[in-house]
Amino acid sequence: MNSGVLQAAGPVAQTIASLSWLLFAGGGLIFLGVMGLLAWALRRHGSAPRTRLWILGGGVIFPGAVLAALFVHVLPLTPFRQAPPADALLVSVTGHMWWWEVRYTSTPGQPEIVTANEIRIPGGRTVAIALASDDVIHSFWVPALAGKVDMVPGRRHQLILSGDRPGVYRGQCAEFCGEQHARMALHVVVETPAAFEAWRQGQLLAAASPATPAQQRGRQAFIANRCDACHTVRGAGEPSRLGPDLTHVGSRLHLGAGSLPNSPAALAHWIAHVQQIKPGARMPSFGQLDATTLADLGEWLGSLK
Ligand code: CUA
Repeated sequence: MNSGVLQAAGPVAQTIASLSWLLFAGGGLIFLGVMGLLAWALRRHGSAPRTRLWILGGGVIFPGAVLAALFVHVLPLTPFRQAPPADALLVSVTGHMWWWEVRYTSTPGQPEIVTANEIRIPGGRTVAIALASDDVIHSFWVPALAGKVDMVPGRRHQLILSGDRPGVYRGQCAEFCGEQHARMALHVVVETPAAFEAWRQGQLLAAASPATPAQQRGRQAFIANRCDACHTVRGAGEPSRLGPDLTHVGSRLHLGAGSLPNSPAALAHWIAHVQQIKPGARMPSFGQLDATTLADLGEWLGSLK
C-alpha cells in the first residue's frame, strides 16, 4: 500500500511532488547561500561594506522576487477552480464523525451506488469528488493521489484526482474532528477499467441471498436486532442513512474506517466490541449477543460482496 506525498501515483499528486522537490531544492540552495554569507561575515573583521545594500537586497528584493516567482508558478497548478472534464467520474464524499460516506452519481434508471470508507476508481480516468460534511470540519487527504481539501459543514468543495497505477492508496482525515479523528482512514482502490466496471455492476445489485443456514440466521439476526435502524442493506430490512450502507460490506477491505482488516470474524468482533476498538464511535457494542448469533451476523455480512 502506497501512502506517501512523494510517491505520486497520479498526475495531480505528481504536480504536488514536483513542486515539493522544487521547494526542497530552492530552499536548500538559499540555505547554503545564507550559510556561506554567514561564514564570510564571521571571517572578516570590521563592519560590512554597503550595509544598506545588503539589507535592501537580501531582506526585501531577493525574498520578494523569489516569492513572486513562486506565486506565478503555482497559480495555474491550483486545481480547485478547474472544471472537471465531461467524462469525469462523479463521486460525492461526506465526512461523518468518524467515517466517510461515498456515493457515485447514478445513471438514470439505475440505483445509486453507496459505500463507505473506500473509493474505487478506474485507473487513468479523472475523478471529480464533491466534498461535504455532516457535522464538523473534516479534511480529505489521499497523499499519493491529490492534495488536501477541507470538508466544511454547509459547503461543497471539489477535489479532482486520478490514479495512474492500480493499487490501494491510503487516505486519512487531516483535520482534527474529535476523539476518533485518528481512526478516520479511507482507502482509494485504483483498478483497471474492466475490474472497475465489474465492481460497479456488482454494486448495482441488491444484497446477495443467504447461501448457507448460518448466513440465513445472520440475516434474520440483522433484522431482529434492528441493525437496519442505522444501516441500509438493500434487500434486508428498511433503509437508513445514519450509518454506513452495508449492502456490499463484504467487498470492502476494512471495517470502521481502517480500524480492522475485513473478514467474517472481524465483523463479528466489531459488532460485539465497537466501543473497545473505537471508543466514542456512534455505534454501541452489541456484546449482549451470544457468540453463535455474532458469528452468523459476521458470516452473512461477510458474504455481501
Ligand atoms: Cu474527520 Cu478528522
